[in-house]
Amino acid sequence: MGVLKNFFKKNNAEAGKTASSGNHYMTGKEIRAIAKENNKIMRALEKEKMRKKPESEYLSTMKDDNNILEIENLHSYFYTDQGVVKAVNGVTFSIPLNSTVGVVGESGCGKSVTSMSVMRLLQGPSGQIVDGSIRFKANDFKRDEKGNFIPVYEKDEDGNVIFDQVLDKNGNVKLDKEGNPVLKPRQAKDENGIGIYEKEEKVFDIAKMPINEMYRLRGRQMSMVFQEPMTSLNPVFTIGDQLDEVTLLHVPGATKELAKKRSIDMLNLVGIAMPERVYASYPHELSGGMRQRIMIAMALAGEPRLIIADEPTTALDVTIQAQVLDLFNDLKTRINGSILLITHDLGVIAEMADYVVVMYAGRIIEQGTASEIFHNPCHPYTQGLQKSKPTMKSNEEQLFNIPGNVPNPVDMPNYCYFKERCSQCIGKCSGEYPCMVQVSPTHFVACHLYDAKEN
Ligand SMILES: Nc1ncnc2c1ncn2[C@@H]1O[C@H](COP(=O)(O)OP(=O)(O)O)[C@@H](O)[C@H]1O
Ligand code: SF4
Ligand SMILES: [Mg+2]
Repeated sequence: MGVLKNFFKKNNAEAGKTASSGNHYMTGKEIRAIAKENNKIMRALEKEKMRKKPESEYLSTMKDDNNILEIENLHSYFYTDQGVVKAVNGVTFSIPLNSTVGVVGESGCGKSVTSMSVMRLLQGPSGQIVDGSIRFKANDFKRDEKGNFIPVYEKDEDGNVIFDQVLDKNGNVKLDKEGNPVLKPRQAKDENGIGIYEKEEKVFDIAKMPINEMYRLRGRQMSMVFQEPMTSLNPVFTIGDQLDEVTLLHVPGATKELAKKRSIDMLNLVGIAMPERVYASYPHELSGGMRQRIMIAMALAGEPRLIIADEPTTALDVTIQAQVLDLFNDLKTRINGSILLITHDLGVIAEMADYVVVMYAGRIIEQGTASEIFHNPCHPYTQGLQKSKPTMKSNEEQLFNIPGNVPNPVDMPNYCYFKERCSQCIGKCSGEYPCMVQVSPTHFVACHLYDAKEN
């Protein structure tokens, strides 16, 4: 892996150099040179993604046991013919158990790429995680040496496993060679009569996991609610078919009847009236709000510990937005899980999040508790976002907007990315990119204005 890392560093630097020559009108020769370099890097990364490796290579430990997810120094790039788009460029944050972390920032600042990286859904070969860790605490099925799940057996009052006689096809007791009845340990069953298997907590480093192993986490351990439900639901299958599939896939031994029962329960849970009718409907027969509820039901059907919601209310009108947000708040307590909520809307964050991460141009520029970010925003960008939020009280005629645009992603400066748009610039701002400074035990900001306050 070390060799591979050096290889990427060298090649990234070269590909980056060509793109950041300052000239955006590239010659055909330059484009071909970049494409050649990119191909080399992408091929190596794709090979690594597919490589079969022992679990020990991607097992890890959490830095803080109270977290369910720890993202550390994540770099996710797109290798394009114009150069390397560093969509996520060294992002570090954690999600504590049973909490909601909101990621906020303007369009194009890397929020979706961060969430797609966690699910390992970046579209290859051009989209790749090139560095960093994504540690996730999973409650996975325990497996024996052959990779089979290990059943939990029923025990009597003295703690001894209960054995049952095995019957043959005709319902007679099966006998072994010595004429003794064949015995089988009795597997414990849940309230639906489905066999229970042993589970264990394991920390996976998702960034290093072979892509073929991700099925162990997606749906069952973590699931995603996308912005536009119509593009995520399959138009040719009924809602019931699509919901049942999740249970059939993720609950070992689940029957069609159980899947239907769970699907109806989920529809009830997300507040769908007449769930039996909706179960038999096709996506186009439902309203936008209902489709988004279905997506949430689908995300819940595998009973995940982490739900990633990427702009879950952006496509909905305001009243439905409020209902869906209430639903998320309610569900978090019911499933005892955590939510990573991605949005460009500070209003949504204010209602939902315990912690807030503010992203700008692929980096985190401020993070803290929701109260810190709302009552004491430190970074000029966060302050700008706050000011541009419409409120009932503001009677100014025009809403504030942050002047200028996010810099070109293939040609990022090496000083503060916000400098061209910042009204509080000081001399230092033309120097190095600012480091993260701690302003309270939970509040961090990357801006030179706070450098002196370090320690
Ligand atoms: N498939 C892609 N190819 C090249 N660049 C991409 C691709 N997807 C996203 N990007 C770039 O990555 C950056 C971050 O995008 P994204 O995470 O989608 O932003 P947002 O914060 O709006 O969710 C943007 O600059 C975008 O142009
Ligand atoms: S580092 Fe300087 S340019 Fe960047 S946000 Fe802070 S004050 Fe503005
Ligand atoms: Mg997005």
